Amino acid sequence: TYVVLENCIKCKYMDCVEVCPVDCFYEGENMLVIHPDECIDCGVCEPECPAEAILPDTDPASEAWMDLNQKYAEIWPNITRMGEKPTDADEWNGVAGKFDKNFS
Ligand code: SF4
Ligand code: F3S
Repeated sequence: TYVVLENCIKCKYMDCVEVCPVDCFYEGENMLVIHPDECIDCGVCEPECPAEAILPDTDPASEAWMDLNQKYAEIWPNITRMGEKPTDADEWNGVAGKFDKNFS
């Protein structure tokens, strides 16, 4: 499966949603997650994310985010179409510690 990582928080560009063939993204207020049981590992979303916030679960950097993706994919609503990105998305791109600053 592929995993959405910390840099999606407050960026939420949603380009990933447009390309996913199985619509396995789920939407929270500040970020999206991937449902690990629905992702077919096609990999097309990874290069589409302007925030480079998507990696395969085989990448060590994704490990810390797998539980969060699994948990919130069961709670948050499915998203199948790209919406308006946050107006300050570019300002948050690459900011460190976004989880601690924004996640509740
Ligand atoms: Fe969707 Fe493919 Fe990305 Fe999985 S790897 S979330 S199936 S686009
Ligand atoms: Fe997030 Fe990147 Fe998608 S910022 S919403 S994972 S395009």
